[in-house]
Amino acid sequence: MKTTQLLKVDSQNPEREKIRLAADLIRRGDLVAFPTETVYGLGADALNPKAVLALFEAKKRPLDNPPIVHVGNVSDVYRLVVEILPKAETLMKKFWPGPLTLIFERSETVPDVTVAGLDTVAIRIPKHNVALALLRESHCPIAAPSANIAGKPSPTMAKHVLEDLNGRIDAVLDAGPTSIGVESTVLDLTVKPPQILRPGGTPYEALKEVLREVRLHPIAVAEKEVPVERARSPGVKHKHYAPNAEVVLVEGEISAIKKKVKELAESYSREGKKVGVLATDETASYYAADVVRSLGSRGDLMIVARNLFKLLREFDSEGVDVVIAEGLPFEGLGLAVMNRLRKASGYKIVKANSH
Ligand code: TXA
Ligand code: MG
Repeated sequence: MKTTQLLKVDSQNPEREKIRLAADLIRRGDLVAFPTETVYGLGADALNPKAVLALFEAKKRPLDNPPIVHVGNVSDVYRLVVEILPKAETLMKKFWPGPLTLIFERSETVPDVTVAGLDTVAIRIPKHNVALALLRESHCPIAAPSANIAGKPSPTMAKHVLEDLNGRIDAVLDAGPTSIGVESTVLDLTVKPPQILRPGGTPYEALKEVLREVRLHPIAVAEKEVPVERARSPGVKHKHYAPNAEVVLVEGEISAIKKKVKELAESYSREGKKVGVLATDETASYYAADVVRSLGSRGDLMIVARNLFKLLREFDSEGVDVVIAEGLPFEGLGLAVMNRLRKASGYKIVKANSH
């Protein structure tokens, strides 16, 4: 077991000496968790194969699921990729730094392990002063998947990182809760038209406005499991975002959802299960389950996204057996939230109908 150092930093003006310490660790090939605007990432020097291998091991992540490579400047992208198309340039200008990951054809500079043997690489510039300071001070691109044990909900607080990785990594930079709360949108630019492989912090609607033509890969909607050979994003074939509790997702029109959630909660209760309900401000008082939590108002999907992973983890600390989750609108950040909930449920999706 390692000793994991907890380094509290100011999220706006991170203390120089703490960033230096963290950057020294990265340069030595060690593992440092750090905040981004989306979720906490677990960082390693992306050009050091040994460090990246250790990263996979610490997270218990399958070796066929590559992490995202984070850079501090657009100029750092050039040596990692074969070419930057005009489309990519436009997107980088408009959305970076920010929660958009772009898939490029990769150059020989990137080690095989960092891209899981693929001929493409996923890159983004995060919009967080701590992440940017760390990237600048480290002088290397940083490979950083979410800083959780593979399959668990992503961490939005340093506390979540330690729950999963204490003793397995070298340090955590703690700058408080992250603001967006779901991971970046992954956009594949190597196909025509570009395809969203994972919906995230940059809404589909915003990309559509800039690209005009952009497709949502079926896995991004996560209606059901997609056969492995069709899953362009390697991550999708693995279990994701799931708390220990079983998750059941109820979709439909809100009044029908309410009825169905209540009915399911009562029936699981009768089986002697401890039941959690993942509700919203508009509906929470309607339920009488063991643990009822609200994501926020259905009218504010930014807040809903921010609370999602934290609440999924809370059901586990409450020892809930089954979580019944309300479906949400698919607009804006709602698309990312629904993708995470559908996957967390293992596609146990109940369609509620109003008659
Ligand atoms: O917001 C985020 O994206 C966070 C923060 C830390 O930046 N990172 C994150 O990384 O969520 P990770 O590794 O948990 O998710 C990366 C996703 C996975 O679904 C992976 O399969 C996909 O990006 N991915 C990585 N490289 C890819 C590639 N070359 N082609 C297609 N998908 C790729
Ligand atoms: Mg992840």
